[in-house]
Amino acid sequence: MSDDQSDSGDVYLKEYKGYRFVKEKTSSEYIQSLEDFEIRDSDVFLVTYPKSGTVWTQQIVTLIFEDDCTEDYQKNIERMPWIEFPMDGYDFVNRPSPRLYASHLPYHLVPKALKEKKAKVIYVFRNPKDTMVSYFHFSKMMNDLETMPSITELIERYLNGKVLGGSWFDHVKGWYDHKDQVNALFLSYEEISKDLRSAVLKISKFVGKQLDDATIDKIVEKSTFKNMRNDPKANYEFMPDHVADKKKGRFMRKGTVGDWKHTLTVAQNEYFDEVFQAKMKGVPLKMIWDLD
Ligand code: A3P
Repeated sequence: MSDDQSDSGDVYLKEYKGYRFVKEKTSSEYIQSLEDFEIRDSDVFLVTYPKSGTVWTQQIVTLIFEDDCTEDYQKNIERMPWIEFPMDGYDFVNRPSPRLYASHLPYHLVPKALKEKKAKVIYVFRNPKDTMVSYFHFSKMMNDLETMPSITELIERYLNGKVLGGSWFDHVKGWYDHKDQVNALFLSYEEISKDLRSAVLKISKFVGKQLDDATIDKIVEKSTFKNMRNDPKANYEFMPDHVADKKKGRFMRKGTVGDWKHTLTVAQNEYFDEVFQAKMKGVPLKMIWDLD
């Protein structure tokens, strides 16, 4: 089987070097071309495995850079577009600095210059049981994804990386193993959940923005789950019905830590743990499965 074919049984997805993407949104050739994408030192990349809190962090980062905004962006996705999913008629290359980009790309597929410590990378990860449950619901509402028939079926696909984004394990390990080669800040969804203000401060410090307390407070306020859910710039309800069926779910679904406990059976959880332990052996990345 070539790198380009999907063996997941999921007709909506295509695979390129372990990365699985929605066929309609991009192509292997385009992803390959990104290796030589010209990077500016002032660029900021937000990188995540799908369902790890990308849009949440997108909101935080775009607000941190709000006063650098010379154009009137209607939505966060315009201020911080996905590098691997080109949007029709939108030139996301020739933008004023600082350019902000989101990406789900694994380490081995990102622009080479990032690996020479050009630009900044914010890598957000989330415990894989919650990302999997989030994906389960996401797959029901997204018309360009196969609806996962059951958690039992999804667990098999998830643990084998046969879902959008490819393998959670490869993604997280790939980035973690190379964290010293990039100019990166690692943050977890759970850390952000525990203390949103500290996360905003950490991110703003990392990107070199000195913000006063009132601005930080405003960013925190605008980034709570409740406020983002009602914010048309941030809640992704602008996705047209043929892309996302809002009758079947909302992008801003629950926003909690440990939702997997309401979904996985004891046996499914034990099986997941077993695979997790084996695949993450020797990786000293602390995973938070639940908040007390
Ligand atoms: P759930 O489906 O568990 O609710 P991504 O943006 O990477 O696709 O991640 C989506 C997940 O992030 C969803 O998780 C969504 O609800 C959650 N999320 C988005 N904004 C959030 C916020 N402000 N606070 C907490 N969770 C948020």
